Amino acid sequence: MASFRNLSVPLLLLTILFPMLALCYINPAATSVHQNATKSSASRAYIVLVEPPRSNAGEDAHRQWHESFLPTSLADESSESRLLHSYTEVFSGFAVRLTDAELDTMAKKPGFVRAFPDRTLQLMTTHTPEFLGLKNGTGFWSRAGYGKGVIIGLLDTGLYATHPSFDDHGVSPPPTRWKGSCKAARCNNKLIGAKSLIQGDEFGDEEGHGTHTSSTAAGNFVTGASYHGAGVGKGTAAGIAPGAHIAMYKVCANRRCKQSAVLAGLEEAIKDGVDVLSLSLGGDTIASFDEDPIAIGAFSAVSKGILVVCAAGNSGPRPGSITNEAPWLLTVAAGSLDRSFAASLHLGNGKSIDGEALTQKVSPSSKSHPLLYSEERRYCNYKSGSGITGKILVCEGTRSKTQQSNIHRIVGAGAAGVVLFNDEISGYSTMVQDYNSSVVQVSAADGDVLIAYAASSESSSVASLIYNNTLFGVRPAPVVPFFSSRGPSIIAVGILKPDILAPGLNILAAWPPSTGSGRGTFNIISGTSMATPHVSGVAALIKSIHPDWSPAAIKSAILTTSDIVNSTGGSILDEQHRKAGVYDTGAGHVNPTRAADPGLVYDLSVTDYAGYICWLLGDSGLATIVRNSSLTCAKLPKVHAVQLNYPTITVSATSTPFTVKRTVTNVGPANSTFTAKVDAPRSLTVRVSPETLGFSKTGEKKTFSVSVSSHGLGEELHLEGSLSWVSEKHVVRSPIVAVSPRGDTAPDPSP
Ligand SMILES: *[C@@H]1O[C@H](CO)[C@@H](O)[C@H](O)[C@H]1NC(C)=O
Ligand SMILES: *[C@@H]1O[C@H](CO)[C@@H](O)[C@H](O)[C@H]1NC(C)=O
Ligand SMILES: *[C@@H]1O[C@H](CO)[C@@H](O)[C@H](O)[C@H]1NC(C)=O
Ligand SMILES: *[C@@H]1O[C@H](CO)[C@@H](O)[C@H](O)[C@H]1NC(C)=O
Ligand SMILES: *[C@@H]1O[C@H](CO)[C@@H](O)[C@H](O)[C@H]1NC(C)=O
Ligand SMILES: *[C@@H]1O[C@H](CO)[C@@H](O)[C@H](O)[C@H]1NC(C)=O
Ligand SMILES: *[C@@H]1O[C@H](CO)[C@@H](O)[C@H](O)[C@H]1NC(C)=O
Repeated sequence: MASFRNLSVPLLLLTILFPMLALCYINPAATSVHQNATKSSASRAYIVLVEPPRSNAGEDAHRQWHESFLPTSLADESSESRLLHSYTEVFSGFAVRLTDAELDTMAKKPGFVRAFPDRTLQLMTTHTPEFLGLKNGTGFWSRAGYGKGVIIGLLDTGLYATHPSFDDHGVSPPPTRWKGSCKAARCNNKLIGAKSLIQGDEFGDEEGHGTHTSSTAAGNFVTGASYHGAGVGKGTAAGIAPGAHIAMYKVCANRRCKQSAVLAGLEEAIKDGVDVLSLSLGGDTIASFDEDPIAIGAFSAVSKGILVVCAAGNSGPRPGSITNEAPWLLTVAAGSLDRSFAASLHLGNGKSIDGEALTQKVSPSSKSHPLLYSEERRYCNYKSGSGITGKILVCEGTRSKTQQSNIHRIVGAGAAGVVLFNDEISGYSTMVQDYNSSVVQVSAADGDVLIAYAASSESSSVASLIYNNTLFGVRPAPVVPFFSSRGPSIIAVGILKPDILAPGLNILAAWPPSTGSGRGTFNIISGTSMATPHVSGVAALIKSIHPDWSPAAIKSAILTTSDIVNSTGGSILDEQHRKAGVYDTGAGHVNPTRAADPGLVYDLSVTDYAGYICWLLGDSGLATIVRNSSLTCAKLPKVHAVQLNYPTITVSATSTPFTVKRTVTNVGPANSTFTAKVDAPRSLTVRVSPETLGFSKTGEKKTFSVSVSSHGLGEELHLEGSLSWVSEKHVVRSPIVAVSPRGDTAPDPSP
């Protein structure tokens, strides 16, 4: 429980911010901006959207137009520090510090659209920076040579440029279309872009987060990656697209990311010409898409052909905790790997418990020690010397720094070791942490076993600790850990979110050296932040093979080829070892090899998204998000969420058939025939028409309809099935979610 509280801290902060945001949100139609807010003479940062300048003039004209909105008092020498950023690519606007009175005045000027207070986003990790250490450093899967010619832009904490992961051996020069610049300690064919969007900041990475995510996406091969001094083995580390280029836009510092800086990063990345954008950050979703600057800015990127990959958030396992859920984003949930930093516990009663230990001691002997559990000392709040010498203490893990230092102290004072069991919410998902002590981490269920054993045999209960180093092939995997944010989306009702599952628990990647010794090191951290760059890397591999594919086509390829079972055919599980559902995993677990050759794709254009925005938000939403004066909702067909040509299908579970249409594009062999295969529970009847799709050309499109009727959901709030188009060579799978009309995320029954 205690650790869950820790994780919720950012959420609580945002709950406090929420009323403020609602009050300060500016509606252009409103006559008075701050009727109900306390007037303040203090200035704060706002992101301001204005109409584009009349003429399609250059940057100077843009700047002049933006400046015409600023209070005249800003013309003085203080203007430099008050005008934070000017935007032309993400939208027409700027970030500026304003008092309430200045904002009131600005809101009355013609051409003003909206203003948002500059909110702070979080990095999507659940680690603490002191989370150092690696024992046996073999990386995750990687494919040499792939990702060639593709540029992955990351919006993050910067990176440690001289880390060997950013060496450019074997990487070709950047494509000539690249317009970016690089101001880092080392720029080469691997690291081609480095910019800080934080005023007065030197490019670097004080947090480690950006070094970790960029090396996960596109780090080069590093042989002999290991944690120095630990005396354990070596391995090769590499990113998912080791041949791709990296452009880092530093938008976060001190573990906080200002929206205004994130927008400035998006702005630069679009101008520079990146192919894939990776955003391991986000806030709590509290606003509709036209009130979310990141959703608005990312739309510009997507409409210029850039795939935007975002973290789903670390607010799980609460249903509806998903963030970054706009349909034009690729939203990534986190799963576990089949790797364990294994340690086991042999009990005096002959039982054995398998756990993990990031501090792997070389254990020559397996000496037995008395086991001690005390309800009052449940969180290891022992005082030194109070009867703990030579004992193995059983405690609940909290991941707090206080507990970490306390453990280090009591082991130093003579305890033989500590077994930390997960809290109930973490269940079976153990986020390993380096305690630099004899600490073994075990599941909540094993915690119960240990407590029962300690209680049953009182003073005679004993255990020994055995370290097994890094093991691979650990089962079950993948498992969705507790922190990964869950669907359904409250805002994008009718669109399944998250989209995809990728490794995000206990991920090993590059890290700045703590000692400044020159050679980089590696670290293991967890979060949807870590899952995101895996998918960005996969997107780069696909983009390298299919440079002409749209962001939606690449997303479709990743979703429809994903795995819904593990390598032995069993279900993917959640943190309690229940079968995971679509709101945990999205379409499934990413499968890079298959994603490169999907057979069919569900494509989407800017016009499709515009029709969806008209349906959801009307003309004002269109004007804010799409900003194309030749498009109006009157001219566009409204696209109900469930009818958007998304690679997953959501329907309302009604007894009368609920019908949706989809169009697939053939990207496989010219002559191919696909047959519909439906997998659904008994209480769903799914009809696909036509049941066969025959193609004779590459790029040919075919439309079909899916009708779902349901007979009794019982207590369920949703049911899951799937539609697969099957040809000789391909299986193109889309999950079908039938949402109970009783739930508040059921799509409108008459699309
Ligand atoms: C703002 O309005 C709400 C109700 O609309 C009211 O309860 C609250 O007292 C008002 N606050 C101020 C500062 O006037
Ligand atoms: C490191 O792990 C690999 C894979 O499990 C194993 O083959 C190797 O022996 C380990 N190295 C050491 C030094 O333990
Ligand atoms: C560690 O090794 C011991 C002895 O070889 C074995 O009994 C135990 O199951 C292993 N633990 C894990 C987590 O595999
Ligand atoms: C870990 O603990 C040892 C002593 O047990 C100490 O020498 C070492 O500096 C510690 N390492 C870190 C990273 O704190
Ligand atoms: C696959 O999942 C099943 C449970 O659904 C589990 O029993 C099995 O061990 C898993 N296999 C692997 C390789 O993870
Ligand atoms: C605006 O929309 C029209 C019609 O779809 C399209 O032809 C044009 O390229 C769009 N303009 C921009 C700037 O995207
Ligand atoms: C596809 O099949 C048709 C007739 O079945 C044939 O005429 C055509 O050459 C084939 N195209 C390819 C690319 O194989």
